[in-house]
Amino acid sequence: METTTTLGKNGPVVTRLGIGTWAWGDKLFWNYGGDYGAAQVKEAFEGAVKAGVTFFDTAEVYGLGESESLLGKFMKQIDTPVDIATKYGPLPWRFTARSVADALTASLKRLQLPQITLYQVHWPFTFFLTQETLMNALADEVQQGRIKSVGVSNYSAEEMRQAHEILAKRGVPLAVNQVNYSLLYRKIETQGILATAKELDITILAYSPLAQGLLTGKYTSEQANKPDGARKFDERFSETGLRKIAPVLDLLKQLGEKYQKTQAQVALNWLIAQENVIPIPGAKNLNQATQNAGALGWSLNPEEVAELELLSRSWL
Ligand SMILES: NC(=O)c1ccc[n+]([C@@H]2O[C@H](COP(=O)([O-])OP(=O)(O)OC[C@H]3O[C@@H](n4cnc5c(N)ncnc54)[C@H](OP(=O)(O)O)[C@@H]3O)[C@@H](O)[C@H]2O)c1
Repeated sequence: METTTTLGKNGPVVTRLGIGTWAWGDKLFWNYGGDYGAAQVKEAFEGAVKAGVTFFDTAEVYGLGESESLLGKFMKQIDTPVDIATKYGPLPWRFTARSVADALTASLKRLQLPQITLYQVHWPFTFFLTQETLMNALADEVQQGRIKSVGVSNYSAEEMRQAHEILAKRGVPLAVNQVNYSLLYRKIETQGILATAKELDITILAYSPLAQGLLTGKYTSEQANKPDGARKFDERFSETGLRKIAPVLDLLKQLGEKYQKTQAQVALNWLIAQENVIPIPGAKNLNQATQNAGALGWSLNPEEVAELELLSRSWL
């Protein structure tokens, strides 16, 4: 299995798996400052790089800038080049092309970088800013060299096609659509997003690829292990929710035993087996980062990929 790939057809080369950093500095959804903090996420960063994973996904809103700032500090302390993907939030008061340039300037400052690998629009709803203005502002940044490639996130098949067309007029490819995708959330397959991405050579960055921890097998209806933060209120983590996913976790365990891999590693390997998909699992500490990086470098066979597909059809 190749351990690197391009973003889009001929875009920047990155590792076939990235690490998500939403939980780095975030107290609103996650529990940063509670059972983990700066020391643990620093170890997660170093552990990922050591294990060969050098692609990190962040956003200006994660920890209100703290995730980017932490990455900026950590990168200064190592020599290995790292690929950063961050995101622009089209908030209601941002209605000019200038807002893109200003937000990017602020992100680059926190990251302490002159250039990033990928800049994504965090969600499609842009209030008064048109997709035309937005995509053109992003194309300008590619031309000026502050970003190597352009991506979107949470875009439908149609919105993705429109963004792709606007950018194409400027000779800039749409490299990425970052969407929710895992064995327990397969809507991109039924909503035409995966097929359109393949047709247009757009890479899918799979967010929440472990279904926010559910696919690691550590939350089960038998165990008292409860998730922290906002997930406490998520039905999927309730007793009924956990009972529903038990067969998927059983198969992940069984396959994991064959390859000496964890359930999380098998679940991520299934995503890697889908063409043009890069999973970006979150990691809060060294153990999680190292484990998630271990989803690379081996492959489930086609029958096993199909078996998992069959068993997870209720999440299509
Ligand atoms: N574009 C968007 O709108 C959007 C939305 C969501 C996420 N994202 C991106 O996608 C990334 C990943 O998504 P996510 O954080 O929502 O979900 P995820 O990757 O499915 O789950 C991450 C959580 O699972 C647990 N975990 C991770 N690896 C583990 C392991 N090996 N063993 C045991 N537990 C493990 C950790 O929480 P516990 O230890 O507390 O269980 C971790 O915080 C984010 O960091 C962010 O970069 C983007």
